[in-house]
Amino acid sequence: MLKGRNYIDPEDLSLEELDELFDLGKEIVKNEKDFIHVCDGKILATLFYEPSTRTRFSFEAAMLRLGGGVIGFSEPGSSSVAKGETLADTLRTVSCYSDIIAMRHPKEGAPQYGHNACTVPLINAGDGGHQHPTQTLTDLFTILSAKGKFDGMTIGLCGDLKFGRTVHSLIKAMSRYSNNKFVLISPDELKVPNYIKEQVLDKKSIPYTEVERLEDVIDDLDVLYMTRVQKERFFNEADYVRLKDSYVLDLEKLKNAKKDLAILHPLPRVNEIAVEVDDDPRAWYFRQVKNGMYIRMALIAKLLGVK
Ligand code: CP
Repeated sequence: MLKGRNYIDPEDLSLEELDELFDLGKEIVKNEKDFIHVCDGKILATLFYEPSTRTRFSFEAAMLRLGGGVIGFSEPGSSSVAKGETLADTLRTVSCYSDIIAMRHPKEGAPQYGHNACTVPLINAGDGGHQHPTQTLTDLFTILSAKGKFDGMTIGLCGDLKFGRTVHSLIKAMSRYSNNKFVLISPDELKVPNYIKEQVLDKKSIPYTEVERLEDVIDDLDVLYMTRVQKERFFNEADYVRLKDSYVLDLEKLKNAKKDLAILHPLPRVNEIAVEVDDDPRAWYFRQVKNGMYIRMALIAKLLGVK
């Protein structure tokens, strides 16, 4: 039963609950018109303390397509945050006006800290370089669409594996399924943090390798998850400039890839996937964008407990 719960960490949902959510997501994709009134009279608040296109718009589109309404801010400076209001007071206040809240915050752990002040379900829409659980739902739903399963795959994650919160959440999520192995492709400075390796991969004895060259491993992959170098999380510009062009996936590199490889990217992209790849049938990232809206529709409906 998901009604009334928060969704802050990818592991807040059991595998059975995830299956239920994906089943509902599939039903919404198939019969969207059957869901256009399920959230009549309900209000979603989107509190975005950091920039976003996909996450905020997909949450808002999801609620509107379910018949509900939307309030919120994308510029915290336009709210009483600018006058020094605490996160807890903001969440408690917005709980009075809304039925469910989606919040993106630059501080890692902000939703864990803030949820006690919230009297309605709180969804983590990304906290610093930590987690992005609804992107993970989007990624899982897309992997299910592309591969029809979650297990027995070789999953390559490429780019900024240090600051990329979607990477951390996806490793956590895919580690819950059997017989997956990970290939972690990054420059030395942008490797997956040790706490993910120790607390997730090593703890569960999940096989993984760390390499620097995508070309050396691309032929082995079933899923390739490309990521952007996260400029906003670097402490100095020079490091960003040195590392920003580390990887560019183009059709030449894809020549050695499997015919049924699924290429995902949480987006936005900068230049790490050449535009020429967009029309390749293995490119799933724009279908992934749409899946993000459908799975957020399913999540909102489940957390609100609407039929
Ligand atoms: N994937 C993602 O989180 O995109 P936005 O930053 O545009 O929301």
